[in-house]
Amino acid sequence: MDLLTAITNLEREALDSIGVCDSKVALEEHYHRFLGKKGELTAILRGLKDLAPEARRQTGEEANRVRAAIESAHARARTELERRLIEERLQGESYDALRPLPDLTGHLHPITSMQMEVEQIFTGMGFQIMDGPEIETDENNFGRLNFSDDHPARDMQDTIWTTDGNLLRTHTSSVQVRAMRLLRPPFRIIAPGRVFRYEETDATHESTFHQVEGMLIDREVSVANLIHVMKTFLSRVFERPIEVRLRPGYFPFVEPGFELDINRNLEGERRFEGDAAWLELLPCGLVHPNVLSAGGIDPKQWSGFAFGLGLDRLVMMKYGIEDIRHMFTGNLRFLSQF
Ligand code: PHE
Repeated sequence: MDLLTAITNLEREALDSIGVCDSKVALEEHYHRFLGKKGELTAILRGLKDLAPEARRQTGEEANRVRAAIESAHARARTELERRLIEERLQGESYDALRPLPDLTGHLHPITSMQMEVEQIFTGMGFQIMDGPEIETDENNFGRLNFSDDHPARDMQDTIWTTDGNLLRTHTSSVQVRAMRLLRPPFRIIAPGRVFRYEETDATHESTFHQVEGMLIDREVSVANLIHVMKTFLSRVFERPIEVRLRPGYFPFVEPGFELDINRNLEGERRFEGDAAWLELLPCGLVHPNVLSAGGIDPKQWSGFAFGLGLDRLVMMKYGIEDIRHMFTGNLRFLSQF
């Protein structure tokens, strides 16, 4: 058989057999078989050197044409195979644009939403939101709040100290101190944030919890002003008129100081009798003159009130949560209820 016939035969065979290559591996094998370095075309062309120059030229040209034809058949076959593989994959997958998604959407933690609600109510009454650091100095957490060095009230708040003599703030009242140094009276601020106590935990105590501090400084501020702002705030949070009462409470930085209770009975209702009707909610009072002085504010010209709201407590009341420790476990069975 002469070389030209062999080349024509090779072309036919190559083009016939490429159609049955149904995978990338089969295509590659096919390519090597016909066009590879050790393939059939190379083998045939080894005979070129024995041909007369004219025949060699003709055969060489024919070999190049056949090589190009097989190459382009390969290109087409590869594209076609890829298209088929994608099509097969798509057929195996189904996509239903209307199928409901599994409910994996996140949402705000109830403490965060409560904080945002409290912020909204107070900013509506002209309060600014202030922030302060969680690691504080002894001065800002105690000293400038009228706790003397040996003041027994320091023991009311068991403190976590850092090795360099600072502390994790035991209350957001430290932000009162910062506010007085930062702002010129009159001013109104609230300061939400985390606070820390060195404490055994139980259903109503956590070593980390949340407070919202409030401070209003103005001329001739009275207990009546304090009560009004508290009642306005509480009525908005609980979405009903709230009756409050004040009992004496001791904190070195307020004078007089109070525990504010709210009435659990709805207006005109007698569901809870006597003392059972009252629920202790938040401590507050008029800012002590020593605190104003320590903050660089003249107590003869200015006065004010302050309060410390327990944010966790508020959330627990709103949702009827009986154990504060649920709040910080990250347990989705608890969290997904809100
Ligand atoms: N800082 C006090 C506490 O954490 C609460 C408080 C704030 C009391 C403001 C009076 C006024 O116990």
